Amino acid sequence: MHYTALLSLLVVPVMSKALKYHVPSSLQARACQLPANFTVSDLTIYTDDVDNNKNYTSFSYSDVGTGIDTYCSRNSTSKPGTVNEGSWPCDNSNVAFIYDATVPKSYLTIVEIACPETGVHIEASGEVRPDLTCKNSTSGSTCVAKQSSMTGIFVSLEPTPPPSR
Ligand SMILES: *[C@@H]1O[C@H](CO)[C@@H](O)[C@H](O)[C@H]1NC(C)=O
Ligand SMILES: *[C@@H]1O[C@H](CO)[C@@H](O)[C@H](O)[C@H]1NC(C)=O
Ligand SMILES: *[C@@H]1O[C@H](CO)[C@@H](O)[C@H](O)[C@H]1NC(C)=O
Ligand SMILES: *[C@@H]1O[C@H](CO)[C@@H](O)[C@H](O)[C@H]1NC(C)=O
Repeated sequence: MHYTALLSLLVVPVMSKALKYHVPSSLQARACQLPANFTVSDLTIYTDDVDNNKNYTSFSYSDVGTGIDTYCSRNSTSKPGTVNEGSWPCDNSNVAFIYDATVPKSYLTIVEIACPETGVHIEASGEVRPDLTCKNSTSGSTCVAKQSSMTGIFVSLEPTPPPSR
């Protein structure tokens, strides 16, 4: 009798139904809420004409599934994340973002640590593509997403890269 085969049939997880990525076996047995989707609101990008230090990117982030509600910003005082090179941590450091400004279509990639309480170093990522509308003022340019809020789907779950610093 192939007990192992039988067992694996019995424990096929039902939790991955709503998820758009494969759940690795290291996480399948854990009772944790995996990130499924997220909402980005009030994305604003300000670029000053002269002073680099005044530039900022900001938005509100929420993931109702995992219960995260946080503010994300990159400004002159921000420190880049130690994982995911090129990313910027949100106030809740389990979330980070990479913003690629290509007006009018830009890319906002979100990374959320999956099941941080388990200590399994794995993260979900997904993106939204904001449609920007920009206004010039005497001091600089302010671009906002035409969508006041955007829902993104997490499409991958990968091991967290080791800290680069
Ligand atoms: C920041 O501001 C400077 C000066 O206004 C501008 O030349 C530069 O492109 C801005 N950088 C970013 C990342 O927006
Ligand atoms: C987002 O994820 C939640 C579970 O966390 C699910 O109930 C909801 O249907 C999902 N929404 C979309 C648009 O996928
Ligand atoms: C600047 O960015 C940090 C995060 O990097 C954020 O906590 C802070 O609130 C931001 N400051 C402003 C004025 O938005
Ligand atoms: C804002 O200014 C930039 C150059 O500084 C220009 O390329 C852009 O077309 C202007 N946008 C608007 C909406 O006037």
